[in-house]
Amino acid sequence: MADHEHVVILDLGSQYTQLIARRTRELGVYSEILSHKTTLAEIRKRHGLKGVIISGGPASVYWADSPKVDEALFSSGIPVLGICYGMQLGCSVLGGKVIPGDKREFGHADLEVLHEDALLAGITRRLADEPHALRAWMSHGDKVTALPPEKFETLARTQNCEYAAVRHRTLPFFGVQFHPEVRHSVSGLLLLKNFLFNTCRCAGDWQMSGFIEEQCERIRRQVGQGHVICGLSGGVDSSVVAALIARAIPGQLTCIMVDNGLLRHGEVEGVRAAFEGHFKVKLVVADARQRFLKKLAGVTDPDDKRKIIGEEFIRVFEAEARGVKDARFLAQGTLYPDVIESVAAHGGPTAKIKRHHNVGGLPDDLKFELVEPLRYLFKDEVREVGKELGLPDALVWRQPFPGPGLAVRCLGEITEERLSILRKADVIVQEEIEKAGLTRRIWQGFAVLLPVKSIGVMGDERTHEYTCAIRAVESVDGMTADWAKLDYDLLRRMSNRIINEVRGFNRVVYDISSKPPATIEWE
Ligand code: XMP
Repeated sequence: MADHEHVVILDLGSQYTQLIARRTRELGVYSEILSHKTTLAEIRKRHGLKGVIISGGPASVYWADSPKVDEALFSSGIPVLGICYGMQLGCSVLGGKVIPGDKREFGHADLEVLHEDALLAGITRRLADEPHALRAWMSHGDKVTALPPEKFETLARTQNCEYAAVRHRTLPFFGVQFHPEVRHSVSGLLLLKNFLFNTCRCAGDWQMSGFIEEQCERIRRQVGQGHVICGLSGGVDSSVVAALIARAIPGQLTCIMVDNGLLRHGEVEGVRAAFEGHFKVKLVVADARQRFLKKLAGVTDPDDKRKIIGEEFIRVFEAEARGVKDARFLAQGTLYPDVIESVAAHGGPTAKIKRHHNVGGLPDDLKFELVEPLRYLFKDEVREVGKELGLPDALVWRQPFPGPGLAVRCLGEITEERLSILRKADVIVQEEIEKAGLTRRIWQGFAVLLPVKSIGVMGDERTHEYTCAIRAVESVDGMTADWAKLDYDLLRRMSNRIINEVRGFNRVVYDISSKPPATIEWE
């Protein structure tokens, strides 16, 4: 990202660090998350460096081993915004004191603006129209106390917090005790905008259309006359990667889609229509349905199923890749959250790099050079790129679908008959969620086949059929999830349609478990 304005975010272990990066990017400024241990000299190497934001964190600055940043940063002339712990750190280095608060402060607090400095510009004006425009989201135990007034100016306070927003009088250091990056902080985005545009003097040169052209150029330089293969799952990440490469080097890309027989209804056709029709990409669909089903016959243990599917996937992908002439490059939909060095701010291991393979964990001895054009993007940015590239909405807004596919939603033994029953019910759940306008609001909504047969009555006939469980959850990242409080009428429509239209189910239940302790998928 060398050609862009750059804001560095120093991570001190806050749960909101990624959110700070997302917000700055939403505002049109490229930001990068770095370890708090990064030296000033390293930070300065960022071309186009405009400012630094120091995140919050769980430690206390008065602990002997508390995480620090390079102190030279504060007197370097680079604009710095300290958030929560970041503010406490800056204030303590620059002459203030931090002590444990009498009580923890968590939740909303109304800000009283004392001085509408560049950082708080326009915020009081909003107050005239919106009484809660200055609501700040607080989450802290420690607080700054005794800030020398000759050095610091207090910009805002709350009832419980004397120094809710401060600035240094001579250095470009600002601190806020609350979390402007959190959506609950009304006006928080405006505050971040003020910091980026008023203080750091950013122009806002981070836009997705620019990103596409830049990445195309980069891909052309990396691949030259070579050939790229790309595993397509039908999910948004791999689809956007493929569309981007197709734009950059048409004719030098072959996509491989493994049809393992565990895909949803219409999945292969949807991908074919999007890629062969619109993007004119060479698409190889490996029909491995029988191969997978044979391997899975009689297997009921969830872990065994996953292992078998993973191994078969690699075999099929490798075989297909070998058939593509001159393929030296492998494209992957790795995203920014997968590559951020997640730093334990104090104690524990110093750094851990998460690596994620969208193509299902391909082995290292598969000798390809990786092409990862999305590795600096968040999911919402990937969707934006997908939209700009002209991918159909159905692909761009597709809900996550697990690698092992319907196998983890078809409990017990997997047979063609059971998969076919499940697929039909799944279509109904998808259609009804879409019709209710909930596709984007719900993290995932799908049907599960339970191999439990119960008695029913259809017309005058007794039935003895499987049970369909409907699962719909709300989640931000899939790590935790709440079962969705779907409208009764919507549930009734789904249930009626499944029982009337799908031979094989005579009973429908709704899953009301959250994660944890349950998981989103049933296996
Ligand atoms: P669980 O069931 O663990 O799922 O709560 C969390 C999220 O991850 C998805 N998931 C997978 N995605 N390969 C994937 O690419 C997998 O093996 C896999 N297993 C679960 C799941 O759909 C949910 O969004």
